[in-house]
Amino acid sequence: MHPTPPTRSHETAWRWIKRPSRRKREEVRWGVFVMHFPPPLPACAAMQEGGRDRRGVARSAIWSRPHRLTAAALGVLAMLSSVAAFAVAPGDGIENSKHDFSDYGGGVSICMFCHTPHRAISTKLLWNHTLSQSNFSWDVPATTAGTSFPSFSGDSYTGPTSRCLSCHDGTVAVGDIGWYQGGKPATVYNLRLTGAYNIAPEGNLAGNHPTAMPIPFGNQPNTYNGVSTGPHAYLDEWQADPQQLGIRLFNDDGAGEITAGAVPGKSGIECSSCHDPHNKKSVERRFLRGSMKGNDQSYLCLKCHRK
Ligand code: HEC
Ligand code: HEC
Ligand code: HEC
Ligand code: HEC
Repeated sequence: MHPTPPTRSHETAWRWIKRPSRRKREEVRWGVFVMHFPPPLPACAAMQEGGRDRRGVARSAIWSRPHRLTAAALGVLAMLSSVAAFAVAPGDGIENSKHDFSDYGGGVSICMFCHTPHRAISTKLLWNHTLSQSNFSWDVPATTAGTSFPSFSGDSYTGPTSRCLSCHDGTVAVGDIGWYQGGKPATVYNLRLTGAYNIAPEGNLAGNHPTAMPIPFGNQPNTYNGVSTGPHAYLDEWQADPQQLGIRLFNDDGAGEITAGAVPGKSGIECSSCHDPHNKKSVERRFLRGSMKGNDQSYLCLKCHRK
């Protein structure tokens, strides 16, 4: 823990009105809560064991961490916990997962919030969600190993990280997509992510685990997204090939083309190295490719690090 962590208050207000359609859990629900977390929430909050319900509200964490919650929030939490029981299991695919927005209005189908077969924003991934125009960067120049943190722009970086951040930096509505049924649909699901799920408010990646960065694949320095592994990396303290442990790695051809699969000297990690947005490779929660428990290679952090 840093000596004087800056306090950021997460204030989220929402009102969900869902049409009584295909899911049993459809209901009208609303709530307001105010929470104060001691440090800013890092994306890589392995340190934080509290579960969250479907709307990103800290649940068990309430009892273990010094949060202040309004009394109203507790009522809402109880309500939402019962809703969470209908959530899809880890690994069972995208339907009914937190990335299934298909019943949020506008009739847009499940895949089309992110992909479209025609008129995509980018051919790569057939991407359909309006990209963020934020410039992403961290608050420090380099990691302990001396690897520079990159800065990149949400609408020009071609790695999948910029696709995730098109929703997860809170600047673009979840339903702001390019093309559906022959045109840009009237705005559907006009929610911008706030609170815990907004991990990079307006481009600020401070406090987040490195991403869009090189990994010492093959226990060697690698260059990725314009950055090379720093001179002080303990090259022996890395899994030689995390892909064998279920991690997805990427390579950068040096000309801005990023594709999946490690290539010696040119490999890096993206958000989707740790998460599977389709909930297929996820094992426990939060779309993660590894467990958040244990001290062997099933534990996510040890799939790349050897500590
Ligand atoms: C919330 C956004 C989102 C939704 C919804 C979504 N995808 Fe994806 N999809 C992504 C991202 C991000 C990637 C890049 C994944 C990576 O880097 O591993 C991707 C990658 C893919 C790929 C490329 C191959 C692969 O697996 O990496 C295919 C094919 C694909 N998605 C199909 C689908 C289909 C079919 C659906 C609907 C059933 C769907 N996706 C729904 C975000 C989404
Ligand atoms: C189209 C917008 C969109 C895109 C693109 C998107 N997400 Fe999400 N994601 C959301 C929303 C909205 C939620 C919260 C849903 C809710 O509150 O029910 C969410 C939830 C999550 C969660 C929390 C899951 C849980 O079980 O609590 C993770 C982790 C996540 N996203 C990671 C990613 C990653 C990684 C990518 C890219 C590979 C990505 N997302 C791309 C909109 C998006
Ligand atoms: C090194 C692995 C790793 C990378 C890379 C990573 N995450 Fe995560 N992320 C995690 C872990 C672990 C958790 C779950 C923490 C928990 O459950 O307490 C998490 C949780 C989340 C959550 C839920 C909110 C929270 O704090 O629990 C979101 C949303 C999310 N990640 C999005 C992203 C996005 C977007 C990116 C890329 C910009 C990304 N993650 C990159 C490991 C990673
Ligand atoms: C997909 C591979 C991967 C996974 C999984 C992963 N990391 Fe990392 N981690 C990296 C890379 C790459 C770096 C940057 C290395 C460098 O400095 O060159 C890094 C750096 C770090 C650093 C050093 C940051 C600094 O400023 O020096 C810490 C601490 C860390 N990771 C912790 C974790 C924790 C905790 C987890 C589990 C939640 C985790 N990592 C999971 C790849 C990973």
